[in-house]
Amino acid sequence: MKDPIHPYPADFAWGVATSAYQIEGAAFEDGRGPSIWDAYALMPGKILNGENGTTACDHYHLWEQDLDLIKGLNLNAYRFSVAWPRILPEGMGRVNEKGLDFYDRLVDGLLERGLDPHLTLYHWDLPQALQNRGGWANRDIPHWFTEYALTVYRRLGDRVKSYCTFNEPWCTAELGYHIGRHAPGIQDLRMALLASYHIQLAHGDAIAALRGENTRAELGTVLNLYPVDPATDSPEDQEAALLLDAKINRWYLDPVFRGTFPDRAVQHYGDLMPEIDPERLKVAAQPLDFLGVNYYYRYWVSTEGKTLQNAERTDMGWEVYPEGIYRLMKDLHREYPAPKYYITENGAAFKDELVNGQVHDEDRVRFLKDHLQHLGRAIAEGVPVKGYFEWSLMDNFEWAFGYSKRFGIVHVDYETQKRTLKDSAKWYRNFVGEQRGIL
Ligand code: NOJ
Repeated sequence: MKDPIHPYPADFAWGVATSAYQIEGAAFEDGRGPSIWDAYALMPGKILNGENGTTACDHYHLWEQDLDLIKGLNLNAYRFSVAWPRILPEGMGRVNEKGLDFYDRLVDGLLERGLDPHLTLYHWDLPQALQNRGGWANRDIPHWFTEYALTVYRRLGDRVKSYCTFNEPWCTAELGYHIGRHAPGIQDLRMALLASYHIQLAHGDAIAALRGENTRAELGTVLNLYPVDPATDSPEDQEAALLLDAKINRWYLDPVFRGTFPDRAVQHYGDLMPEIDPERLKVAAQPLDFLGVNYYYRYWVSTEGKTLQNAERTDMGWEVYPEGIYRLMKDLHREYPAPKYYITENGAAFKDELVNGQVHDEDRVRFLKDHLQHLGRAIAEGVPVKGYFEWSLMDNFEWAFGYSKRFGIVHVDYETQKRTLKDSAKWYRNFVGEQRGIL
């Protein structure tokens, strides 16, 4: 028999997460400027089936019913992102009030329903106007980002419970500028490293500026982190695992917590390293109120091309490894102590089928249950995790995979925009209801 789930603290934040480009649609309404994802989606072959986020889940129009849905799940928190090109259509300068109005209504709508707003400033939809100037590779971008952060903050203020600067900066730099599988689709490692440096500066400058506003809101950032295991105990595999850990995890943790890049990766990149000003980089290590962790799977590293056999995998091909959330949080707490952590994303895509108004997604129910069990264990052992946001509220635009991957606990019919609770949503609703003592 499985161990029971540890009871969660009474004040725990229970939520779901989404992001602007993935759900909002209304891509050219109310003065929104084009984003790099609009442009990328137009490039042939970049997105499966030539799809795009122009309509997505039409959340821009259906937001009230979506907030009702969240409330109906017994949750008390919601993580969403703001579309920079809605606020500043040219990326800087002219403010589009209608864009701010949307998030103003959204935040009030959340508060009216007893849901704490957790806001992400950058979830990948850079204004195209800024990409035309080099995007994250332009040394002026920390300044542009800070202007954007302050514009959002000055309108929404302390009605927002937490502000996060960046969602998964590894994806922005590595997928966007090196691998080229995300917008803007560049394939240049040197530029990716430069972009990652500027992201760190932008994060630090923006946090400092927000602190300067005497905000009472919590300030932090969100990283995608992974346990990294060597396939064997050969020195080669061990070294390869340490290097991967440095490149994907510590490359983003070290600047934020220590104001430096990790030596192992710096040595590895050698001549490709951009010119770093160590004094300037220190700005990245602002005191944070929280670190947000997105956990999906672990890396299993083999220099001999071995693959993990018999692993259960999601529709993304990712290993289902619930114990990873426990290991990750314990390790983080030891090596990168933060006053609090949120699990800002955790979830899975599976091949769901809607039959007679039902989706029996047992695999997702088990995924959630097992991860919450292992997370509960970390909390019971003293790791200050204060919230969990399931990814995602509803099926949505999964970037280069278009609409083919379904991560939602709510099913979306993209023809009719009808939302249908999957079994996982019902399970989560009951579980959270019990934890919060409202069932
Ligand atoms: C991480 C990203 O933040 C989110 O946008 C994406 O949809 C999920 N992971 C699933 O891949």
